[in-house]
Amino acid sequence: MSDTSRASISVIGSLNIDYFTKVSALPSPGETVSSTGLELFRGGKGANQANAARRQGAEVHFFGCVGQDEEGKAYRDALDADGIDVSFLKQVSTKTGAAFITVDTAGENMIVIAPGANDKLGSDDIKAGRSVLLESGAVLGQFETPLEALVEAAILANKENIPVVINPSPVRLEFPWHMVKTDYLIVNEGEASEVLGFAPMSEEPGILRQRLHELRVEHLIVTRGGDETLVFTRTGDSFSVETLPVLPVDTVGAGDAFAGCFTARIADGAPLEEAIRAANCAGALTTLGAGAQNPVPDRQKVDQHLEHLAAKS
Ligand code: RIB
Repeated sequence: MSDTSRASISVIGSLNIDYFTKVSALPSPGETVSSTGLELFRGGKGANQANAARRQGAEVHFFGCVGQDEEGKAYRDALDADGIDVSFLKQVSTKTGAAFITVDTAGENMIVIAPGANDKLGSDDIKAGRSVLLESGAVLGQFETPLEALVEAAILANKENIPVVINPSPVRLEFPWHMVKTDYLIVNEGEASEVLGFAPMSEEPGILRQRLHELRVEHLIVTRGGDETLVFTRTGDSFSVETLPVLPVDTVGAGDAFAGCFTARIADGAPLEEAIRAANCAGALTTLGAGAQNPVPDRQKVDQHLEHLAAKS
């Protein structure tokens, strides 16, 4: 671990090249619209979250797949240069994943993914990194790579009481929730409704508690853009955590910054509310620049904002 590293985490997830265009209004089906230009960024929910955790000072081990193409090699080198462990980043003979992202002037976006190499991650790739994974302070995964890999990682982590953080994005209803214990489930409001089958804010606390029990989720964390983040526990407690007021330029990757920062802080031993406060800050600050990784703040910047918020309250 380098001098600046704190806790270690394992991220199981995707890497994409993001092809990013801006339009005045998103196209309707069958419509063609022209954008103001094309930008290429490094993206993919897994890599975005790994990047955010690394910027918080975590030692990050990445489990994923890129192609043997130029994009894949460059992506691997970039992660390595950022201090992310790529020993378990497999190169496969398929194209590196791509995401086609279009954002309108109101900040609404449409994303189409071509998973490519991401689809090649399997449970054997997790088993190959078992010893590293079991030394982690937390395991973090999303749903852009095959679910069997995440399930394998979560089961291993569960056996050693390593916190499992899942950001089920994009939602896949076939995820076998009963097979794993999820310590922290991070969702936005739409994802919360899809996973639970109802909006957590509008349901009886007892029904929500029962649903969390069925899904084996210990803490449900609902991010809500500029509004407070809500937390519901399996034991029936709930609370909210304020976020940083900002004027967003591009919200792509904000949820990933939240998840990466949150996991780094939890692995580092932060109490739940403190980890959410920091993650809210990281998510909000990420909306101030273009791309899912470049604008993600480092630990020092997040801490400065937290101090500022504390001084005001
Ligand atoms: O969450 C944002 C990410 O979703 C983008 O970087 C894109 O690659 C897609 O995975």
